[in-house]
Amino acid sequence: MFKDDLLKGKRILVTGGGTGLGKEMASHYAQHGAELYICGRRENVLKETSDQLRSEYGVDVHYESLDIRASEDVDGFIQRIFDDGPLDGLVNNAAGNFISPTKDLSHKGFDAIANIVFHGTFYMTHSVGKRWIEAKHKGSIISILTTWVWTGSPYVVPSAMSKSGINAMTQSLAAEWGKYNIKVNAIAPGPFPTKGAWERLNPKGDDESSMGSIPLGRVGEMNELQNLATFLMADGCDYLTGQTIAIDGAQYLTGGGTFSGLDKLSEEDWEQMRAMIRSSNDKDKANRG
Ligand code: HXC
Repeated sequence: MFKDDLLKGKRILVTGGGTGLGKEMASHYAQHGAELYICGRRENVLKETSDQLRSEYGVDVHYESLDIRASEDVDGFIQRIFDDGPLDGLVNNAAGNFISPTKDLSHKGFDAIANIVFHGTFYMTHSVGKRWIEAKHKGSIISILTTWVWTGSPYVVPSAMSKSGINAMTQSLAAEWGKYNIKVNAIAPGPFPTKGAWERLNPKGDDESSMGSIPLGRVGEMNELQNLATFLMADGCDYLTGQTIAIDGAQYLTGGGTFSGLDKLSEEDWEQMRAMIRSSNDKDKANRG
């Protein structure tokens, strides 16, 4: 879909880049020539991913273990990167989440998610953005959100609340930082199964039907998400800013309509319904004489 050297000369940081969606996006950036920085809490997976990307794609890959909840550590980490030269792109991918009835959450459980997603994503964005502004350097920020930012979602309330906040940040900073040549967008992926997310969001390993209906009849293919993340990071769509783009096979749109559940009806069910509706119409007509 893209030229091999599309991102050559760009230096991109992917938070949570050692595993899951972060690793997938980082791989695609590396494949297209970018120099990469990845961070996360587990040094062993960061090292493994860095070694793999370096040897597969022949690009520079740097890593550092970092918990984005620790604001001072975040700022120090970003300063060390900028000491070597400015970044060009930031992907806010690191997140935490688990399903739980909200009444059973402790406040500490809420904080664990909100501190990562809401606070940590802001710390990272702020630390990178202020340096871009100071250096008058063009930049691109992509945050990984979910479609719950528009609909809310039961059983993942701390995540839905925090990611909605980052959706507001995306819109607000696109407007505030447009004049500095910084574009700020977000991606709202539907189900793209990864080990970390699925262990916490689908612990029994139910099939995808438990995740709600998906009009395309399948979960996402990683390459589809990678292509969108690369498109948004590349030059050529600078006028596209302040947007959160869903890539979910139209899944969330089916939740919004009163009749979305009708998707499950068979042809026979519809035939039966048509007959029932017709018979009720006929009765009305007869009563009208
Ligand atoms: C209820 C829970 C819980 C659970 C943790 N807690 N898991 N409460 N149900 N399943 C509570 C704990 O009891 C504790 O509160 C508090 O949360 C902190 O827990 P810790 O384990 O000490 O926290 P920590 O080590 O900081 O772990 C953070 C974490 C964890 C977010 C809770 O799950 C984690 O590290 N996850 C890794 C990243 C991750 O989640 N990836 C998946 C992201 S998927 P008390 O009061 O008991 O001490 C995603 C969106 C996917 O973001 C969208 C798909 C469509």
